[in-house]
Amino acid sequence: MRTPPSAPDTVTGTKPPGAEDQAAAARYVRQLFSDVSARYDLLNHLLSMNVDRYWRWAVARDFRHVLGRPTARVLDLCSGTGDLSLALARQGVAPVFSSDFAHSMLTRARAKYDGTRLPERSRIPVLAEADALQMPFPDASFDLITCAFGFRNLADYPGGLREILRLLRPGGELAILEFAEPTGFLAPAYSFYFHHILPAIGEWLTGVRGAYRYLASSVDRFPKGQGFVEMMRAAGFKDLRVRKFTGGIALLYVGKSEPRP
Ligand SMILES: C[S@@+](CC[C@H](N)C(=O)[O-])C[C@H]1O[C@@H](n2cnc3c(N)ncnc32)[C@H](O)[C@@H]1O
Repeated sequence: MRTPPSAPDTVTGTKPPGAEDQAAAARYVRQLFSDVSARYDLLNHLLSMNVDRYWRWAVARDFRHVLGRPTARVLDLCSGTGDLSLALARQGVAPVFSSDFAHSMLTRARAKYDGTRLPERSRIPVLAEADALQMPFPDASFDLITCAFGFRNLADYPGGLREILRLLRPGGELAILEFAEPTGFLAPAYSFYFHHILPAIGEWLTGVRGAYRYLASSVDRFPKGQGFVEMMRAAGFKDLRVRKFTGGIALLYVGKSEPRP
């Protein structure tokens, strides 16, 4: 007897276990981050041995030319508990909007912002609870849009890029930081750590079954490196470049919207 073909893969973005369409994928992701929010920062810093702090700082440094302009507006998509938003705010004077669809991640961000001393010239980021695929801002609202470790969780990658292009002003910049696969001698050890040790520690510390197994599978599914660069190009981004962090564990994808004619 022949086994029936499995259901077609209709998700053009992340595909968590059991999610058969984009709405189900988004529900899973939102629930997962709501469940792990209390331990999210601890795990981030522990599992990356604090290197994640350097990555966010380095991303913000790369965009000082935008952040230093008081008239510029910056959107940090999938901002979670706000570490990248704070790094961006520290580097300049431009207002930063932190947006995420998991309420409890934003609650943590709020508490963090309240307890953080920023340089006098910097502004505390403004929170916006929203889905990255349908943002409540008019066209051409931002000069810089960032997204750290959030984009691969979207249920529709091309849709996410379209929404970002809609929100960017002409010549505006996009910076997406995502996990990738290191190459060279680090690769086998890192892969073992990422697929076996990290999910076990994540589950143990959060008490949420499968949360950090999803993390590994979402990275595996994401079109890393040139594959994602081509996706950005197809969406209409220009001047594309990729910066490698820590032997390729994380990659920063940068692109621009079409300049004003
Ligand atoms: C891995 S965390 C990254 C948080 C933060 N940017 C950082 O660097 O730590 C991913 C975040 O993306 C958010 N997220 C995922 N899909 C989203 C969507 N469609 N709309 C808004 N936020 C989303 C999750 O709620 C979560 O807070």
